[in-house]
Amino acid sequence: MKFLIFGDIIGKPGRKALRYFLAGYIDLADVVLVNVENSAGGFGITQKVYEELIHMGVDVMTSGNHIWDKKEVYDFIDQKENLLRPANYPPRVPGRGYGTYEKKGIRFAVINLMGRSLLDSNLENPFLVFDRLYEELSKETPIIVVDFHAETTSEKWAFGIYADGRASVVYGTHTHVPTADQVILKKGTAYVSDVGMTGCWYSVIGMRHQEAIERFTTGIPQKYQVEEREDMVVNAILVEVDEITGRARDVKRIQRYITRDELREE
Ligand SMILES: [Fe+2]
Ligand SMILES: [Fe+2]
Repeated sequence: MKFLIFGDIIGKPGRKALRYFLAGYIDLADVVLVNVENSAGGFGITQKVYEELIHMGVDVMTSGNHIWDKKEVYDFIDQKENLLRPANYPPRVPGRGYGTYEKKGIRFAVINLMGRSLLDSNLENPFLVFDRLYEELSKETPIIVVDFHAETTSEKWAFGIYADGRASVVYGTHTHVPTADQVILKKGTAYVSDVGMTGCWYSVIGMRHQEAIERFTTGIPQKYQVEEREDMVVNAILVEVDEITGRARDVKRIQRYITRDELREE
């Protein structure tokens, strides 16, 4: 079973690039996963954007700390089984953090977790939450895919090795910057510290560089806006998982630059 996995999608340019890329690539994948925490205007997700992503062929959406930025998410997150927020939020928080799904007759599970190093440390320990969820989900399917949304590569690597042989795939999101460490770990888990973003590349993690530089040179907080005028980059991984054992057979990193002119010709 082939999983085509995208990290954080940044606003409208990210969605445009994703749509363009998927049109040519979707036949290669059985399942498409996207991290949607920055998909609507760079902050959160709306119902309209959710529908747009479903229409493109996205199967399961994961997220992270920015999932709450658009308040309307509280109105629909409970109804969407394939829209996840990190599973280590306390139980009374809306939405769900994991699920099992079926595609082409094959059942698989997706778990969304958030790291705690340099992020919100009020969450439950993601390592221990994974133990609990693994107990439950491994009874249903050997294929378990984890989006580990975290800031530090050390926490991500520690989690990757911790879940090795239990998860089929552990991939990082949140930093918006891809890492080149994709690998199949010793016990069969495909791993990458961060998939990287899909959005305008001449930017500071998808946002206009002007405000970011202003902040870094003055120390004064700025209002960030999605960079929309520049060319785009798509970052993804394509992972092939053995359907019987749940072990990864192959992991490839994909990076594709798309010019604005190319999109106009569409
Ligand atoms: Fe993000
Ligand atoms: Fe994030």
